[in-house]
Amino acid sequence: MNEIGKPIKITNNIAPIIIRPIVALSSDGLAFIISVNAAPPGTKSGKKIKLAVKKSLTAGAAPKKIIKVSKFPVGASQQFVAANGAPAFLFRTKTGVFAYSAICTHQGCTVEYLKAGKKLVCPCHRASFDPFNGGKVISGEAKGPLAKINVSIKSGWVVQS
Ligand code: FES
Repeated sequence: MNEIGKPIKITNNIAPIIIRPIVALSSDGLAFIISVNAAPPGTKSGKKIKLAVKKSLTAGAAPKKIIKVSKFPVGASQQFVAANGAPAFLFRTKTGVFAYSAICTHQGCTVEYLKAGKKLVCPCHRASFDPFNGGKVISGEAKGPLAKINVSIKSGWVVQS
């Protein structure tokens, strides 16, 4: 499972740097950095680090309430903060609710939703993604789709499960 980690402050011998790593959790509880949006010198993809893994990344965590279903009609979309603290976008169509991380898979900028074009667009290098087709890349340098976030409707709420 890939997740976007909380920002981490790393101090090197020049200045502290804040990174927002995209990590994968291994069975031993360690996290592997897959990519970072502002890597300090010496931080490489694949480097094994210990992270304080939030409860929300582990099985059995309570679902995070995002918005009441009654306030989020079919056709609606909105930005929200995912359980891991990262920005994300939520959509509702006739078939249900779905959500994606707003972290661009190119170099980690935050994408924006353009309602007129019905696409998520990255302001950094203009990659665009189709939220109605699995978050797939429409154009630009991003190689992979936006990370999907599991959401569902439970007891009158849209929740992140
Ligand atoms: S970081 Fe999004 S297109 Fe480059």
